[in-house]
Amino acid sequence: MSEYKMKLTQDQLDILEGKQGETLAKVMKTLVLYGETFGAESMVPVTGKMGHLVTSFGFGVMKPVFALMDRLIEDGAVSKQAFTVDPKPMDKNVPSSLLEDIVFKAIMYSAQKPYDEQLRKMGIENSDAYTCTCYLNEVGNTPQKGDILSWAESSAVVYANSVLGARCNRNSGIIDLFGSILGYVPNFGLLTDEGRKATWIVEIRTTQKPEAQLLGSAIGMKVMEEVPYVKGLDQWIGSELNDDAKAYLKDFGAACASNGAVGLYHIDRLTPEAVESGEGLITENAKVYVIDDAELQRIRDNYPVIWKNPDAEPKLCFIGCPHLTYSQLVDWTEKVAAKLAENGLTKVTVPTVFTAAPAVVEKFNQTPLAEKLKGMGVVLSYICPLMYMNNPLCGKKPVITNSNKLRTYTTSRYYTDAEILDRITKEVK
Ligand code: F3S
Repeated sequence: MSEYKMKLTQDQLDILEGKQGETLAKVMKTLVLYGETFGAESMVPVTGKMGHLVTSFGFGVMKPVFALMDRLIEDGAVSKQAFTVDPKPMDKNVPSSLLEDIVFKAIMYSAQKPYDEQLRKMGIENSDAYTCTCYLNEVGNTPQKGDILSWAESSAVVYANSVLGARCNRNSGIIDLFGSILGYVPNFGLLTDEGRKATWIVEIRTTQKPEAQLLGSAIGMKVMEEVPYVKGLDQWIGSELNDDAKAYLKDFGAACASNGAVGLYHIDRLTPEAVESGEGLITENAKVYVIDDAELQRIRDNYPVIWKNPDAEPKLCFIGCPHLTYSQLVDWTEKVAAKLAENGLTKVTVPTVFTAAPAVVEKFNQTPLAEKLKGMGVVLSYICPLMYMNNPLCGKKPVITNSNKLRTYTTSRYYTDAEILDRITKEVK
């Protein structure tokens, strides 16, 4: 008799009882206990083609993680599927002082090289597979509708669930890896039909297209970890999941997931499950949240400014958290060029970094726009801006961003796309 409540298949029981080695048994035990905590009654096979890990940084103090990785690799308990991983934390092209560099390399990410090597042995797809937008076509880790995943990166999980119709819980780091090693994940929450039902109806009644990152923030803070069904957004972003709509939902979802803890949203007439089942996805007695211009303004006005000097001139600007899509990158380049020309300038007036997946950067670098962007003084990088801002010295700098996720987790200050564009292209008196 198993000491666990969960009903396991013979194969799963064999693993748990150590028939495939002591290490795999421990991995299974961890996932069973994790699942039981959330009321899972069974384990289901991971059916997504690839995994995605959230821990991409060789943070020197994470010694237990490195020891765990070594043990797993030594015992042959590596990932059953290739995987992508979140962005790298460092890039020499991103502006930083000598002192900040010392903190990055000698203190914070001192274990980056050995950790990259561990990821290689564990089964990372390739040396360019570092991005949070793993689901983009250029990167190739795009789940199919109904696929069961073992991911943890919140912006990727919410995208895979909502826009692609895959099924994944908001796991934590290492749990994502364990699921990929085992090929099983506990069946609960967003993996089940019931857990994918909406308990909130959000009605959009704005007079213009809401800023994706602001709308996501408002909804995230209201519904927290519940599932919202959003009505009225299709009038602004259409009812076709084209490039623009997907990019909008990427940014919207990341804000929902970080300003709250949303793992799945449905957009009426647009996202796959909403198109399929419509309001049948909404539970009885669902709560209602109405968003109009005044509500978005209220949300915006309540963001704290935690710069030491709130009137400081920005020293750095980050655009691309989550990483930019190829179309967004092209669009930002053209908009910055046009605005600089309008203002009689040739270079941005705030050091600016655009971030995108290595595969997207590579594609962009093959176009004439790459030279144009460089000529305007904008750095194009593959890093995660959050990992940059985690450097206590960088955190003291006045940094601006259009990312509500970056605002939430760091000292950076949020501005809308239009405000950011204005600020980085205007002459400072
Ligand atoms: Fe991606 Fe890093 Fe932002 S992982 S979503 S660029 S915080």
